[in-house]
Amino acid sequence: MKQYVWFNKKIIDINKANVPILSHTLHYGDGVFEGIRCYKTINNNAAIFRLDDHIKRLFKSANYINIKIDFSQQEIKQQCLKIVKKNNLKNCYLRPIVFRNKRIGLDPQGLEANIAIIAIPFDNYFQKEAIKVKISKFIRLHPQSIISEAKVCGYYINSILATIDAKKEGYDEAIMLDYKGYIAEGSGENIFLVKNDKLYTPKLGSILPGITRDTVIKIAKDLKIKVIEKNITVNEILNSDEVFFTGTAAEITPIYQINNKLINKGKIGKITNIIKYTYHQIITGEINQYHHWLSFVY
Ligand SMILES: Cc1ncc(COP(=O)(O)O)c(C=O)c1O
Repeated sequence: MKQYVWFNKKIIDINKANVPILSHTLHYGDGVFEGIRCYKTINNNAAIFRLDDHIKRLFKSANYINIKIDFSQQEIKQQCLKIVKKNNLKNCYLRPIVFRNKRIGLDPQGLEANIAIIAIPFDNYFQKEAIKVKISKFIRLHPQSIISEAKVCGYYINSILATIDAKKEGYDEAIMLDYKGYIAEGSGENIFLVKNDKLYTPKLGSILPGITRDTVIKIAKDLKIKVIEKNITVNEILNSDEVFFTGTAAEITPIYQINNKLINKGKIGKITNIIKYTYHQIITGEINQYHHWLSFVY
């Protein structure tokens, strides 16, 4: 079946969506992107989850690196909905990406920026219910070296190095520390731990302010579970009752082992399960209270 993307203001065949070899973003990484998911809902429709928040972050990221997007947030939102429909998809992943053309040399002033939106079928990111992770030797980028709140293409070399290293040693994913040695996040996920029925997550500063992280904080509040954002040490996470990752791709992924240490004797914990279950109900439209997070496609 033909796959379509929105590229250079038009919907075209994915095979015809080519990027110039002199793309500044290809050479130097100065593009921005989003990862967004759309889910089949219980009424057999499909809904993009927290689309407005993702589009807002895309524009914020672009602004941080001085890219002006030639469309309004509302227009990009409409194109996201359209491209899902055009590809006849329900459970899928959307990747809006903004990139610069074309120059050798670092100064991006005056360069044209392009935007594309890709929609691909998508299922489970990790393909397993729970995962084992390694604390990486690669640390998260220093917040004074980059702008942590922006989702910039080039930053991901840091995550890729950590992923290669973790996989080489038989782990499913990496946890990265920040420059002070505190827990930061996964290569593409935020992280939470449970201790004595309370949730803890690293405070903002060296991490991407994840939209799923924000969702979990709100779910926990509604479930009357206390959430504390703070610096978390390696010792604290190794001695916690439960640990899980959050992310658009990873959703809520329980962690059963960190390095050689089993968490909760290797079993998925009670609070992790409640959050995971509620998250699933929200994205599939089962709870009216959270319908404002859903943008229906059909
Ligand atoms: C480095 C990093 N941290 C955290 C996240 C989770 O963010 P979100 O929940 O907005 O997908 C992602 C994924 O986008 C990421 O790439």
